[in-house]
Amino acid sequence: MIVITGASSGLGAALAHLYSTEGKPLLITGRNAQRLENVAANMPEKVQVKQADLGKATDVEALLDSLECAPDTVIHCAGSGYFGPIEQQDPEAISQLIQNNVTSTIFLLRELVKRYRNHKVNVVVVMSTAAQAAKAEESTYCAAKWAVRGLVESVRLELKGCPMKLIAVYPGGMATDFWKTSGKEFDTSSFMTAEEAAHMLRQALVGTEHGFVSDITINRH
Ligand SMILES: NC(=O)c1ccc[n+]([C@@H]2O[C@H](COP(=O)([O-])OP(=O)(O)OC[C@H]3O[C@@H](n4cnc5c(N)ncnc54)[C@H](OP(=O)(O)O)[C@@H]3O)[C@@H](O)[C@H]2O)c1
Repeated sequence: MIVITGASSGLGAALAHLYSTEGKPLLITGRNAQRLENVAANMPEKVQVKQADLGKATDVEALLDSLECAPDTVIHCAGSGYFGPIEQQDPEAISQLIQNNVTSTIFLLRELVKRYRNHKVNVVVVMSTAAQAAKAEESTYCAAKWAVRGLVESVRLELKGCPMKLIAVYPGGMATDFWKTSGKEFDTSSFMTAEEAAHMLRQALVGTEHGFVSDITINRH
């Protein structure tokens, strides 16, 4: 079974569609139950749907409690953007940004490691090229994604020798709802579509008996 977070939209929804086409058992999750149901209704195969706000530890616990067995793969796409010069950013929006990107990933990894560190589970954490380089007017978004990268690299050390693996993904710009919800007016016509990024990620997520791809950067032209 593959669990995909942030699957009510964008990259998560596109990945869910790809894997569903291959007939893989799927559970998709996000906060907005209606949008999740709409995504599920357009899948070639039936998928499980579970509403959860990953910024709440109790929701993360309930999400994993709903699984019948350990998943093979968890693809954590949930996240959001918020941009602008630092002095103009709103404290409430900054807190929400940290909740959606950092707290959600901490709670998810904490619960996954607690349950499955001795299972062969690949946990794919979608960050951003904003976790690799500083960007003006993206300061708090960069801070959040750099924090997630620090988390992933530290938990990797804690998982040394365990069958559970963390796979870091750094995508560049994708034309998704992300920009609309971030409040940033942006021409995304030259960005990757979610389907293109999902296709590349799907191709990169290959493993063999003794190896796995650990870090993936998906750049746009
Ligand atoms: N679009 C880009 O240019 C771009 C570039 C680099 C990296 N990224 C990263 O790629 C990932 C996917 O982004 P996207 O472009 O596909 O954005 P998107 O279309 O806005 O999708 C984001 C998803 O995350 C979910 N989500 C947000 N906060 C959540 C929370 N607290 N709990 C549970 N689900 C939550 C949203 O669903 P609900 O609202 O239903 O919860 C939605 O399904 C994000 O981590 C983003 O930071 C995006």
